[in-house]
Amino acid sequence: MSRKIINHSDLAPAQCFDAGRYLSAHLLADEFDHIFANCWLLAGVARDLSRTGDYLVFTIGTQQILITRLQDGSLRAFHNTCQHRGMQLVADERGNARHFRCAYHAWTYAGDGSLKAVPHRDQFSAGLDADARGLAPVHVDTWNGLLFVHMGAQPPSLRSFLGAAAEQLAAYDFAAMQVVEDQTCHLNCNWKAVVDNFGELYHVDFLHPQHRRFVDCCNDEVHLFANGHTGVQVPGATVNPRFPIPREPTDLLAAQLQSVGLNPADYTNRIADIRAAVQQRKRALAQESGRDLGAFTDAQLTDAWQYNLFPNTVLSFGMDYLWILRPRPHATDPGRCEFDKITLERRDTAVPRPERDTFPYDAVVRGEKTMTITIDQDVELLSAVQTGMQSRGFRTTWLSDEELRVQHFHAQWERCMATR
Ligand code: FES
Ligand SMILES: [Fe+2]
Repeated sequence: MSRKIINHSDLAPAQCFDAGRYLSAHLLADEFDHIFANCWLLAGVARDLSRTGDYLVFTIGTQQILITRLQDGSLRAFHNTCQHRGMQLVADERGNARHFRCAYHAWTYAGDGSLKAVPHRDQFSAGLDADARGLAPVHVDTWNGLLFVHMGAQPPSLRSFLGAAAEQLAAYDFAAMQVVEDQTCHLNCNWKAVVDNFGELYHVDFLHPQHRRFVDCCNDEVHLFANGHTGVQVPGATVNPRFPIPREPTDLLAAQLQSVGLNPADYTNRIADIRAAVQQRKRALAQESGRDLGAFTDAQLTDAWQYNLFPNTVLSFGMDYLWILRPRPHATDPGRCEFDKITLERRDTAVPRPERDTFPYDAVVRGEKTMTITIDQDVELLSAVQTGMQSRGFRTTWLSDEELRVQHFHAQWERCMATR
């Protein structure tokens, strides 16, 4: 059993830090200024803005960003606030409009943010400089079909911010995938507790016992990137060697074999051969159907891949699907966040864009809502993590090597917050 660690950055791991990081409202306010207003943030999926005039509103704490597609195909982003008296401009989360009219006094802006109409304009006897009263712009860019915004004045390019993390994922065509599910769960925990949870496999043996039946969490490959991003590759189509190797393929391995037309009975006492067999079979099937898998490595055909983009985005994906997991902090309460899960899949035919389903954590606990078995298991645990952190008996963390990605995230958090 061996973990491979590839470090592409100069950050020193942060192993031990105060619990106050998850509890302080002052720190949360500083995080908005020094992290969220100062990093590229994943705001949505570019496919949601495929037509001229399509718009969406991305909310992070007290800030709302309006992103829209212009007739020339370009994207624009603005603070979603009217420049007359500051009214929230657009109320819907998504829609289509050629111009944006404020509901208060009907100031009207074009899609490019310019101020086009002001009722009773002659009443502004002190003058009204329309050029100075356009919507306040925000930087917007896309990578692989995903929309990112940056509220800072002169950000680095999105490509340089993502760096080697993006280069490693070049084979994936997330832009060709469609949103098939859009969920938001209200969690009673700090947003970083969610990032931490998706930054380590240490808990998997204990919280997700089903995983030992189809992935090998002992021989993972960990990447630590500049700017606090991390990645992990977990061998799939296999079992966890920390437990006795079964004679027959597990139920989940049998299903994987059958999904590519292989007979599970042929793999009795041959568990270690399954991963390569599935990889070869996938290549053969793709060739028959005329699909080019040349850009994918063998590991990308079978393994579980997850990349965490600093600060608050987790991408969990395979060749034909992507989960965007994104905790958005509450505006003022460090003990709450909104946890989004946007599921994209590669489909042969167009599917209707689902509306966002928003629900409380209790609905998951009661089994009324599910974000998949694995994520439900995480969600059910996270409020107890927040409760425990508030204890006078808990002062600091003490992280293991299995939590190196958590350490890396916190090292970048410390670097950003040091600019205070
Ligand atoms: S606040 Fe928007 S028009 Fe007055
Ligand atoms: Fe988990």
